[in-house]
Amino acid sequence: MGGVAVLPLASGISAESDSAKEAGRLGGIFAVADNVTPMNAANLTPLLLPVAEKVTEYAQQLNSDVSFINRRNIVTKKVDEAREKVAAMLGIDDSEDLAFVRNTSEANSVINNGLVLGQGDEVLLWNQNHPTNFHSWSYRQKRHGFTLREVLLPAEITSSQQIIDAFVSRLTPKTRVVTFTELSNISGLRIPAKALCSAIHAYNPDIFVHVDGAQSWGCLDVNLSDMGCDSFSSSGHKWFMGPRGTGILYVNKKWASRIWPNTLGYDFLMEYPLEELPETAKRFECIGQRDVAPYAAIGDCVDLYNQLGGSQKIEQRIQSLTQYAIQALDEVGVSVKTPTATENGRSLGHGVVIADLQSSLSVYGAFLALHNEGIASAFVSGVQVCCDPQSQVPSEDLPTYLRLSPHIYNSESDIDRAVATIKRIQTSKFEIVKEVVRFL
Ligand SMILES: Cc1ncc(COP(=O)(O)O)c(C=O)c1O
Repeated sequence: MGGVAVLPLASGISAESDSAKEAGRLGGIFAVADNVTPMNAANLTPLLLPVAEKVTEYAQQLNSDVSFINRRNIVTKKVDEAREKVAAMLGIDDSEDLAFVRNTSEANSVINNGLVLGQGDEVLLWNQNHPTNFHSWSYRQKRHGFTLREVLLPAEITSSQQIIDAFVSRLTPKTRVVTFTELSNISGLRIPAKALCSAIHAYNPDIFVHVDGAQSWGCLDVNLSDMGCDSFSSSGHKWFMGPRGTGILYVNKKWASRIWPNTLGYDFLMEYPLEELPETAKRFECIGQRDVAPYAAIGDCVDLYNQLGGSQKIEQRIQSLTQYAIQALDEVGVSVKTPTATENGRSLGHGVVIADLQSSLSVYGAFLALHNEGIASAFVSGVQVCCDPQSQVPSEDLPTYLRLSPHIYNSESDIDRAVATIKRIQTSKFEIVKEVVRFL
């Protein structure tokens, strides 16, 4: 039952397909409705259809026999194999350093709640961090009294050095933790994670560096051994296109035994750590009974992801779509906030295209118009990402932008369609009213 053999894939389908739609959304490997165009990978992607089938298969395997032994078989054959495959995909030397959790929020919370910190300690946060890695620290601070410091980057980023300098200038002898998102979900800026980890550790090797990789896994070619962070979190249901409600937390051996788990229950094999906690990231997996099927299918997802081209090619394809979108927006007079400078042939902006439509009304109008046309996008209001047209309306008082995050299931023609809609909204307030009425 090797993953590749059991995952049917139309021949000739790959991440480089420049016309996903015409190819039937990459040969039918996504169960996306004909009138729907997902373009919000930074929030959620459609689960690869063959992987969805594997989730069902493993769930059925357990349904047919809920004995402990049967569950053990699924875990030791599939979940452990999945862990090995994800470790290989992300350049993690030892799969024991990788815990399967439910999502990035949970992984961030393990770090946020588990590190021992107190008065006199400082934690340095990037102001673009997601709330689960920003506000969560403020809540913890209320209980433990350490000091929070923030890094704000210049409005225009043209080099990695600017980013590194901004972080390093905020370090002090009291800094215990630095945490940042590798790929910002609100600006599309790609932080030079390896160079930044190295600069922070050069200042003080005992500073704990946590990288929020919610937008990295499946979107960038990640190598954690090379990056040199101390921990890394991500979700399977974003760019990886994997089972929903799955996530990962990598913690290196130097630190794992010094971080307290949030929850203590059984591990995947129903073993409770009675004597002492595991010394590795395994301690973060003891969360009690959970569904093993989605975790078992992660290995099949890695196989399929590799069949589609693997991390390097998929990163290139996403970058090509990113540049295409930036160019297409530019041609209709819409500028973007996503950084466009390049360094060593790589753009500092990736995957997340932030369009500046000059007013929150236009942003909301464009977001609704795209929604009415079946194109899923998002808007950013202040530091908050909003994807729900029913309950989230942008505030006039906050800077508001439209966000497109295309993935390999998108084609250039999907982007053309989205940009044509944005242009229509930009040129007439009447069009906005029409879209609001259409939505209601
Ligand atoms: C940077 C970042 N961190 C954390 C999260 C939370 O991810 P999840 O909802 O999968 O826990 C997100 C979600 O968009 C994110 O963009």
